[in-house]
Amino acid sequence: MRSELFEQLDFVENPLFESIIEDLLNQQYSVVDHFFTEAEVVQFRANLLLKYEEDRFKKSAIGSRTQEEIDKTIRGDFILWMDESKSDPIEQLFFNKINSLVSYLNKTCFLGILQKEFHYAVYPTGTFYKRHLDTFQNDDRRKLSMVCYLNEDPWPKENGGELAIYLENDMKEILPLPGRMVIFESQLLEHEVKVVKASERLSITGWLKTR
Ligand code: OGA
Ligand code: MN
Repeated sequence: MRSELFEQLDFVENPLFESIIEDLLNQQYSVVDHFFTEAEVVQFRANLLLKYEEDRFKKSAIGSRTQEEIDKTIRGDFILWMDESKSDPIEQLFFNKINSLVSYLNKTCFLGILQKEFHYAVYPTGTFYKRHLDTFQNDDRRKLSMVCYLNEDPWPKENGGELAIYLENDMKEILPLPGRMVIFESQLLEHEVKVVKASERLSITGWLKTR
């Protein structure tokens, strides 16, 4: 049987995860550059593009299917949900890191994250996602939103596609730079994807959920 002392010795502080937690506590969002290495991003992107070319992505929806026409004026991305139980080695790499963050959050912040859902997303040139809250889909179990950008390097400002985060008295625009991870409070922060002006904007987006 393991004593409490061993439990404590078991715990190793993770500076990256600690900085994310501190950001979330202080400003409700965190931007982490190089959350994934360049080499990892290259693999994730190749994986995404392969599936995209196989025509497996669907036009995103915001509610019922019958609203599809209206949807285009709200969001224009194409998505493919990921299935962790059927993930390939590259996706396992992705989920390993997410899972270690989740268990760290649960251990240190008692967040009670029990579920997660992630999808690939492609925003073709000219598309956007209007200002919204991620609880929009009537899912109040969504606790933290995560977006990991898989764009080609470089992604110049002129490409647009910034993530705008609306704070109480301020607005932050975040460029979707490859390897960058943005994490924010799903139920608190309204946000928007600005029009993609050139190229395709690639990402993996997901939610950490309570029961
Ligand atoms: C979303 C979303 C932000 C982004 O998919 O709900 O807000 O930067 N994505 O892609
Ligand atoms: Mn969103």
